[in-house]
Amino acid sequence: MAGNKSASRLQEHIERVSTILEEYPDDVIGIVREVSRSAAVMVSEPLDLEQLRREAPVDAYDRILLHHDEKTGFAIIAMVWPPGEVTPIHDHGTWGVVAVLSGELEVTKYDRLPVGQRGEGVILQRPHIDAVPGMVDVVIPPDEDIHSIRNPLEKISVSIHTYGGLMETYNVYDIETGQKQLRETRSVLI
Ligand SMILES: [Fe+2]
Repeated sequence: MAGNKSASRLQEHIERVSTILEEYPDDVIGIVREVSRSAAVMVSEPLDLEQLRREAPVDAYDRILLHHDEKTGFAIIAMVWPPGEVTPIHDHGTWGVVAVLSGELEVTKYDRLPVGQRGEGVILQRPHIDAVPGMVDVVIPPDEDIHSIRNPLEKISVSIHTYGGLMETYNVYDIETGQKQLRETRSVLI
């Protein structure tokens, strides 16, 4: 029955996000604020990931596409983080809400700096936050769009990401050189 409860909590989040996107069609700040509240409710109790995985339309083990909304384009992805897994520093080009379901994630954000001689991808690292279950973090382009995420634990961590769309491309940043590089997503996104 836990599986059915998980499916219904996911479905309730999907319905709330659909409503939010109707209510705030052009207000990204409002969308992210309300989707964050909805995502926090969704992960306020454990979800049966194996049940959701069985019903997911796309399953790449570590990235499970739980929902892609054909009408508005938003997507919900479960990310399974092996111990020590870390992403490159990257942007998204769309709003996003990251909700930690289990384990812990170390989230580091970066500020864009003015384009100068060093290149287009000059960024400044902010202090990281340790996100624990129930916590939510956001990305909002262009100024709050760059982050890296690491699983600092010696066990799997899981997060549920709600994005404004499926990203076909994103940029990866090299903080040492100030360069950025365009990449294509292999499956869904990072
Ligand atoms: Fe990301």
